[in-house]
Amino acid sequence: MIIAIDGPAGAGKSTVARALAKQLGYTYLDSGAMYRSVALVALRAGREPVQVAPQLTIDLGDRILVDGDDVTDEIRSPEVSEAASQAAADKDVRAAMVAEQRRLLSSGNWVAEGRDIGTVVAPDAELKIFLTADPRERARRRARDLGADAGTVLAEQTLRDERDRGREHSPLKPARGAVVVDTTSMSLEDVVRAVSDLL
Ligand code: C5P
Repeated sequence: MIIAIDGPAGAGKSTVARALAKQLGYTYLDSGAMYRSVALVALRAGREPVQVAPQLTIDLGDRILVDGDDVTDEIRSPEVSEAASQAAADKDVRAAMVAEQRRLLSSGNWVAEGRDIGTVVAPDAELKIFLTADPRERARRRARDLGADAGTVLAEQTLRDERDRGREHSPLKPARGAVVVDTTSMSLEDVVRAVSDLL
């Protein structure tokens, strides 16, 4: 069983996917953490993401390990968010990540979240959700989580949203058959209940 949850930054994908996976006893797949890991390693090494992507071993447990190195906190920085969105526009980087995601999803029960899970990685997922929310509300949530200024987060988020939606390869959009859930005025509990009901 695969539940695919896609949507823009700050819509609540990670929180909802994590909570749902816990409730159902499924495994959570944070595909964004993979793009972030590639971007971080490329930044550190001064290399192109496409050069490092195929060689990395990314371990997506409670902590994110890249070739054994714990990068859990570092991959959440604004600099890595921006670099991840740039790296994710490269079709060869995507091919490497999608192959690994499909390998993981080939057995077991999963709640997988990202931008292209329902459209590309697992179009046959039993349930596809497109989570969205008003951009200001999304920025407010992310600013609260990061302890950052909401205006700055909104500006960065707008850039990243535009790049993710406008890119040539696997642009962010609701998958065929996806249920669109607008979380602007919903609590986490409301959203988890809504998705459980759909399931
Ligand atoms: O979800 P998160 O904000 O961690 O993702 C970071 C970036 O990785 C996104 O802005 C997007 O460009 C990219 N991404 C993607 N496809 C996914 C997951 C993330 O392109 N499935």
